[in-house]
Amino acid sequence: MAKAKIALIGGGQIGGNLALLAAQKELGDIIIFDIPQSEGMVKGKALDILQLTPHDGYDVSISGTSNWEDLKNVDVFIITAGIPRKPGMNREDLLEINLGIMKEVASNIKKYAPNSFAIVISNPLDAMVYAFYKVSGFNKNKVVGMAGALDSGRFRAFLAEEIQCSVQDISCMVLGGHGDTMVPITRLATVGGVPIESLIEPSRLEEIVNRTRFAGGEIVKLFGNGSAFYAPAQSAIEMAESYIRDKKRVIPCASLCEGEFGVDGYFIGVPSVIGENGVERILEFELNNEEKSSLNNTLMAVKKTVKETKL
Ligand SMILES: NC(=O)c1ccc[n+]([C@@H]2O[C@H](COP(=O)([O-])OP(=O)(O)OC[C@H]3O[C@@H](n4cnc5c(N)ncnc54)[C@H](O)[C@@H]3O)[C@@H](O)[C@H]2O)c1
Repeated sequence: MAKAKIALIGGGQIGGNLALLAAQKELGDIIIFDIPQSEGMVKGKALDILQLTPHDGYDVSISGTSNWEDLKNVDVFIITAGIPRKPGMNREDLLEINLGIMKEVASNIKKYAPNSFAIVISNPLDAMVYAFYKVSGFNKNKVVGMAGALDSGRFRAFLAEEIQCSVQDISCMVLGGHGDTMVPITRLATVGGVPIESLIEPSRLEEIVNRTRFAGGEIVKLFGNGSAFYAPAQSAIEMAESYIRDKKRVIPCASLCEGEFGVDGYFIGVPSVIGENGVERILEFELNNEEKSSLNNTLMAVKKTVKETKL
């Protein structure tokens, strides 16, 4: 791909960090988009980041806008437009407001950059990515939701802390919806190829799994206002990089399943190969009975939120 054009829809906490990370990786030229009332804020963030590029020599352009005309022919969109959680809220509480925003964003992306690849981050994720897909009419491989990358990263970080080893050597995946019913697959988690289950007692492992499930809420409570943004931004950048550089990374993402893992017609977190064609493949494997039942449980939760979108 020639120098990619990356648009960040929503220039708030995650959007600002996406811009910084995309610049530091020289993924392409970056445009931060927000509503007209926040145009000054995104222009300011763009300028601020532009002014750090000479230090390490990142050769990218960065701008801020609230005009969709500036987003013609963008290659990759990363969408965080919406509102984040406050303490006591779950992700589903954001549905009504964020759904309206997502419909507007999807219609504009369809109009101005119909051949792009879209990574949705806004919550409730499983419903927002579904809404984007329905309204944009994009092919299923060109729409994906970011959740599993973050949830798996959290699980990896907690496991590394427990075992006292490098996070780099932990391999694991969290499947299912991006909510409290997510499914960390402990059976397949390894450190340097060694099964985690042979290193951590079952009861302690269960505690780590539960911490992973509620890791987003733990941060919301600590912040008091807003939700996590550093790790969500890094997780989405990993996905964007795999697309732009055709790395074909295998990342747990909310991809549209059409029969895989027994799921039909819903976006749910599954191991996905991301390359130049977007979501190129879903890697399916045999789940045991307990995992199947957990995935079914998470699917019920996803179906419920998706139903509320009335799309
Ligand atoms: N998928 C995940 O794993 C994950 C993780 C963390 C947060 N989130 C979600 O990401 C979203 C963004 O979080 P944040 O912390 O960056 O929030 P934020 O409030 O800091 O930023 C959101 C931005 O969206 C903008 N916006 C609102 N309406 C818009 C529109 N119509 N067009 C363009 N921009 C618009 C707002 O002005 C704001 O700047 C939230 O919904 C949050 O729940 C998802």
